[in-house]
Amino acid sequence: MGTNRDKIRELVEKRSQARLGGGEKRIEKQHDQGKLTARERINLLLDDGSFEEYDMFVTHRTKSFGLDKQQYLSDGVVTGHGTIDGRVVYVFAQDFTVFGGSLSETFAQKICKVMDQAMKVGAPVIGLNDSGGARIQEGVRSLAGYAEIFQRNIMASGVVPQISAILGPCAGGAVYSPALTDFILMTDQTSYMFVTGPKVVKSVTGEVITTEDLGGANMHASKSGVAHMMTENDEETLLLIRKLISYMPSNNLEDPPIIPCSDPHDRLDDLMNEIIPDDPNKPYDMHDVIHSVADNNEFLETHRSYAKNIITGFARFNGRPAGIVANNPSYLAGVLDIEASKKAARFVRFCDAFNIPIVTLVDVPGFLPGSGQEYGGIILHGAKLLFAYGEATVPKVTITLRKSYGGAHDVMSSKQLRGDLNYAWPTAEIAVMGAKGAVEVLEGRAIRKIEDSNEREKFIHDKEDEYTEKFANPYQAAKYGFIDDVIEPRNTRFRLCRGLEVLATKKEINPPKKHSNIPL
Ligand code: HXC
Repeated sequence: MGTNRDKIRELVEKRSQARLGGGEKRIEKQHDQGKLTARERINLLLDDGSFEEYDMFVTHRTKSFGLDKQQYLSDGVVTGHGTIDGRVVYVFAQDFTVFGGSLSETFAQKICKVMDQAMKVGAPVIGLNDSGGARIQEGVRSLAGYAEIFQRNIMASGVVPQISAILGPCAGGAVYSPALTDFILMTDQTSYMFVTGPKVVKSVTGEVITTEDLGGANMHASKSGVAHMMTENDEETLLLIRKLISYMPSNNLEDPPIIPCSDPHDRLDDLMNEIIPDDPNKPYDMHDVIHSVADNNEFLETHRSYAKNIITGFARFNGRPAGIVANNPSYLAGVLDIEASKKAARFVRFCDAFNIPIVTLVDVPGFLPGSGQEYGGIILHGAKLLFAYGEATVPKVTITLRKSYGGAHDVMSSKQLRGDLNYAWPTAEIAVMGAKGAVEVLEGRAIRKIEDSNEREKFIHDKEDEYTEKFANPYQAAKYGFIDDVIEPRNTRFRLCRGLEVLATKKEINPPKKHSNIPL
């Protein structure tokens, strides 16, 4: 029997052994690849000294394949809780230096433990993924472990925010845990995600493709939309998670945190009076408007490189977080298509689930026409965004800057979808369709009758002017109360700040049901 001092020494030794993970050589390899270790990542993610680790002494229980002789304290995943800006979060970080971060039964149990506690406490879960997938030696126990995690991801969805960082491999069914979470961040060049890797792809379909092209960060951030953000390296990812979390409440029963704001809420921006070009077909960058109206001109964009015709992200108004959804006329004229609808719908639903008000900036010519869109099911995907807005009960403030045509007008947080405050700039054009299309439909017969081409042009031009004057303005909608007020563009920040302040106590409850049946 050792002395008490010996027992304490043993604890200290065990702790430092656990902190070494798979050993110095493997840590060196991890660093050589430009990656940090699990514990280094946690230290960067959390407030200094706030991490409390659970289950450091857990080891796997597999005896076959010589594994009884390979035991690593913590078993390849570091779990626990800490704080970000003083607010509690739960975290798990897969440790690639231990069996390639592969998931064993005990590894899964450790993750489930922190997820369960996060749900009881009402705190976000942040997963740092870097793993070779199911621990091959554990077979079905590993698969069961994944399913236990998936089930918890599903139960936590809409209750506590869940954020996933992909900082290394994430392949096979393992991708579905991050996919079930709210936001995915991926590091460029050092991470990848796919259901089947390049070797399987080649043997099954014959397609030859690199890991990067098949599942790299750039691909997922721009093509598939799986990644909400792409970063340069681990450090940037971890700092970005801290920032992202700052816009969210800890759970669905809380409001997002308000921070003191030094930017005057009634700051006017004369440039906004000039931003809309006189030519209605000329683009401008909606990002400029967002930066102008947001506190300190700060905007945290999600899905920046995916479906760029719609912009989503977070900003603050007089310290109050809000989600922003904005058509971007400088990309595909800001049209609504399948990808834009899916991107915005999911974002709206996130905001609604976590009591984050939604500010919608509208300049949309309509839905993208064509067989490609119809074959791809734009009807269902467009309906997702419509559904998401209509179902959302958080404060909704909509500003129509320029075009708002047809079905897209209804979809983009219109009054009838329970928009709380719907403002328009004097440059707004709210109508069933643009002047050109309207004249073609309404005057087609008359146009065809005019033989002289100059006369025909003049007739069309006059009719378009007439239509524009009558319908392409905000006053038709304002006349019926569909627009609450027509505002001076330079005043937009003030109106948004005041609107969100007034709506902060809004209560709206949907009818009780098991769940809705959003078109998927
Ligand atoms: C057990 C594993 C492992 C795994 C890696 N290791 N993956 N051990 N189970 N799945 C071990 C290696 O044996 C090695 O141990 C160490 O981790 C590092 O692996 P390396 O291969 O040396 O690293 P690297 O060259 O960087 O390659 C990384 C890798 C590769 C691309 C991830 O290891 C790999 O292909 N692993 C297998 C991936 C896989 O097929 N997983 C199952 C997917 S199916 P030593 O002792 O040498 O350091 C799946 C289903 C989930 O996950 C289903 C959920 C529903």
